Amino acid sequence: MIGRVTADADPADSPLVRAARGLPVEHTPVWFMRQAGRSLPEYRELRAGTNMLQACRTPDLVTEITLQPVRRHRVDAAVFFSDIVVPLQAVGVDVDIEPGVGPVMDRPFRGREDLERLPELTPDMVPDIAESVRRIVLELGATPLVGFAGAPFTLASYLVEGGPSRNHEETKALMHGDPQLWHDLCSRLAVISAAFLRVQVEAGASAVQLFDSWAGFLSRADYVRHVLPHSEAVLADVADLQVPRIHFGVGTGELLTDMAGAGCEVLGVDYRVSLTDAIERVGQGVSVQGNLDPALLFAPWDVIEQEVRRILGEGSAARGHIFNLGHGVLPDTDPVVLTRVVQLVHELTAR
Ligand code: CP3
Repeated sequence: MIGRVTADADPADSPLVRAARGLPVEHTPVWFMRQAGRSLPEYRELRAGTNMLQACRTPDLVTEITLQPVRRHRVDAAVFFSDIVVPLQAVGVDVDIEPGVGPVMDRPFRGREDLERLPELTPDMVPDIAESVRRIVLELGATPLVGFAGAPFTLASYLVEGGPSRNHEETKALMHGDPQLWHDLCSRLAVISAAFLRVQVEAGASAVQLFDSWAGFLSRADYVRHVLPHSEAVLADVADLQVPRIHFGVGTGELLTDMAGAGCEVLGVDYRVSLTDAIERVGQGVSVQGNLDPALLFAPWDVIEQEVRRILGEGSAARGHIFNLGHGVLPDTDPVVLTRVVQLVHELTAR
């Protein structure tokens, strides 16, 4: 067990969940997107010889990999070790994750007939996911587990492009060339994402994050018309579960007010926008999460320390602040630096 073993050890009362709701906290909570993974030697050792998606479906591995960074860094939350394409694979999409590349589809989404390849996700398709979450939560004690899913646009981009894309041209061509098919595709993806979040929360996750990693590639007009309604649908679908919802994208400065209004308790802010500007734009209706530039973890410690202080100062203007990076941990990051950042955030904000 990692968390305190006390009668009142309740992740629903943890700094992460409280900050997400704008309640007073004993210290600013901190966790890192991609905290589990290649920056940790113990992860690389455990993953050696196992395909990524296979690892994601193996409860022994998922449990251990999810817990590794919590033990090492003493972060305020675990993030479920999985991937945004796991629910797609679970409903039968032929997808693999290629090392150094990302998700790759055998047959990209091309037309209306391909909608049939995206049936609803039902819990019996992912019993291992619920099993992994239950085991992790048992080990975590008072430390919350963050579940997650990919937002419809980011998932649609992988499906339509067939893999990672620099320009998202096929995706935008479909969005504008056949708006009805685009709408139908994203509606299906919204149902799948919401079901994946629900499985994680019902098994014990204390918060969820919706990753719309590629939303920053869109104009605001396209985002509002073609994407936002589908992200709203996912977030609305899990509202009854009563766990905080974190909404995150990259390069989303122009979209922040729309994303904040999509039905979330926390807005994830990437490093391109200062928290001061983000808070000014979105007001006090949501808490903020972020936003240390992951590349700055390679700079000298005094630079990092100054950045952490700046971000904590800026974040204090929000109703609640969860310290994080502005995007995921880069694979070559020195994990010792991550641990020091956690200690520093805790020291500077202890109340
Ligand atoms: O610690 C955590 O944050 C939890 C794990 C997590 C993974 N993927 C594990 C993973 C999370 C939250 C994700 C989500 C995810 N997957 C997103 C959204 C978040 C983001 O970073 O914007 C996206 C866009 C994907 C798609 C994906 N999967 C990419 C781009 C890659 C990297 C490809 C590469 O090798 O560079 C993956 C693979 C992946 N997902 C890895 C991990 C730890 C690397 C697998 C390995 O160890 O080789």
